[in-house]
Amino acid sequence: DTVDWDPEDAGKGEYDHYMLKEINNQPTSLANTIEGRVEDGDVAFEDLSPGTFDGIESVQFVACGTSYHAAMYGSQLVREAGLRTEVLRASEYEATTGPVDETTLTVAVTQSGETADTLDAVRTAADRGARTLAVTNVVGSTAAREADDAVYIRAGPEVGVAATKTYSSQAVTLALLSQRLAGDVPDATPAADRAAMLEALTDLPQHVEAVLESTRAETLAQDTLDSESFFFIGSGLGHSVALEGALKFKEITYEHAEGFAAGELKHGPLALVTEETPLFAVYTSNGDEKTKTNAIEAQSRGAPIVAVGPDDNPLVDVADAHLSVPETHPVWAGLLANVQLQLLSYHAAKQLGRPIDKPRNLAKSVTVE
Ligand code: G6P
Repeated sequence: DTVDWDPEDAGKGEYDHYMLKEINNQPTSLANTIEGRVEDGDVAFEDLSPGTFDGIESVQFVACGTSYHAAMYGSQLVREAGLRTEVLRASEYEATTGPVDETTLTVAVTQSGETADTLDAVRTAADRGARTLAVTNVVGSTAAREADDAVYIRAGPEVGVAATKTYSSQAVTLALLSQRLAGDVPDATPAADRAAMLEALTDLPQHVEAVLESTRAETLAQDTLDSESFFFIGSGLGHSVALEGALKFKEITYEHAEGFAAGELKHGPLALVTEETPLFAVYTSNGDEKTKTNAIEAQSRGAPIVAVGPDDNPLVDVADAHLSVPETHPVWAGLLANVQLQLLSYHAAKQLGRPIDKPRNLAKSVTVE
């Protein structure tokens, strides 16, 4: 008798799938990402020599897939730090980039460091004179070798095709980068509450642990699975999390899922909303009126509403269900909400019997354009 044996199975330990192992690894992987990078209320970036960002006036991010959603997160924080910034789909770089010259920092956000579209975009930027930075998980990857500088997200190897822990580590690394840029670039201003934000970051691994221990995502997946489509909305940082939540959901469940900016729901997607379309509303602060009003709009058309965020929010009182995360600084709340959505996708895919770690038609790293 022979037994089919996949060497990768050896590394799954107690878990049925790499994806669940990697979701559960996040308290550790995030602690590694943060390690040594926050000191005395300041950001210390060992990988970047002093003066790296001299002369930089604007920051553009290029990325694909999940990395694009992490880049959206980072770009918003760079914007809040007072810098001009844009985030571009790497595959649409030529068609969408603003002017690029030596005052531009082009940041390639790529877990593998090998995505062809992203490499192509960053090479084009370099040809036009941009300073380039790779934010990647893989030491010695093409992106890391070719860019002027590299920062590592230190998430450790990720086997599941659907990115989970690497997204969280990318977003944290980019948030730290935003604060480093704010310190280096003369016209930029660090967040007014930077000390509180960095202090809260050191609690993030514990907060993720609390989500993993208390999550109701499995029950919720069960309760909502028999639906037509799954919608995810949010505003600001919550918007990028909503897009990532929908991408993860469609990748591994094969169910129809879409993410929208909360305020865009009424400009078209609302036509799709029925009792058969649960809506996951992601928020990062209790001042997020847009997400609340638009979620209620969908609810009045019959859609079950799931609030995804901290308890202290008016949306929790009106929602049909709640995926709760610990109170923290709004900059990190979206990452905790995302962990809940990772678990939701995982449990939905598991109940549907999908091949979670290797979804059909998808590859971990896409090296063709
Ligand atoms: C593929 C993967 C996605 C990933 C994207 C970008 O499409 O399936 O999970 O987000 O590539 O990969 P990168 O390695 O550049 O982050």
